[in-house]
Amino acid sequence: MLLFADTADTKLLTELAETGLIDGCTTNPTLIAKSGRNMAEVIKEICDIIEGPVSAEVAAIDAPTMIKEGEKLAKIATNVVIKVPLTLEGLKATRELSSQGLMTNVTLCFSVNQALLAAKAGATFVSPFVGRLDDQGADGMQLIHDIRTLYDNYDFDTDILAASLRTPAHVQQAALAGADCATLPAQTFKDMFRHPLTDKGLETFLADWAKTGQSIL
Ligand code: G3P
Repeated sequence: MLLFADTADTKLLTELAETGLIDGCTTNPTLIAKSGRNMAEVIKEICDIIEGPVSAEVAAIDAPTMIKEGEKLAKIATNVVIKVPLTLEGLKATRELSSQGLMTNVTLCFSVNQALLAAKAGATFVSPFVGRLDDQGADGMQLIHDIRTLYDNYDFDTDILAASLRTPAHVQQAALAGADCATLPAQTFKDMFRHPLTDKGLETFLADWAKTGQSIL
């Protein structure tokens, strides 16, 4: 499963990228606003840090303007993915941008029918929001399972990019549900490395090794 960093914080992203385990990055207007920086500058910097797909979201709500914004964002770097909201206008823009050979990420997906329409519009990625469905008392991870079944039933090429993931358990469940990619906050990525038994086991190994008085080097 591809792991994307969900952030517009380039300092933090550089730290994560140094692990060599981050395959891409996703941003949205909230994350750009949080960075306090100019969008084009941040996206360019992110595209220099990350070789993989970098999602940059349009701000318009009508298809013609989304298309113009998308074409401009795509000129920033070849690994830019144009992120559009899953609305009727957003899917019209997706069809046009996909027909130009540009990568698209259809975001704010909350239902199987929405995911069906995104795939039919030729989206490169669809972003179902797991955490926000859970917030509403729904089962966000069931949506990932259902979209996987749908896309496999009809052999759709669109990749499932599980988003709004809040915990390492979410990442594990998305992987087991067959998501192609997961985008996650930096802390969730860092928490994935941790397990108390790993810490305990390493502590014992180091203590036992120290008792030997030996050195490998
Ligand atoms: O990529 C979407 C993500 O940023 C939303 O996450 O935690 O605000 O639902 P959250």
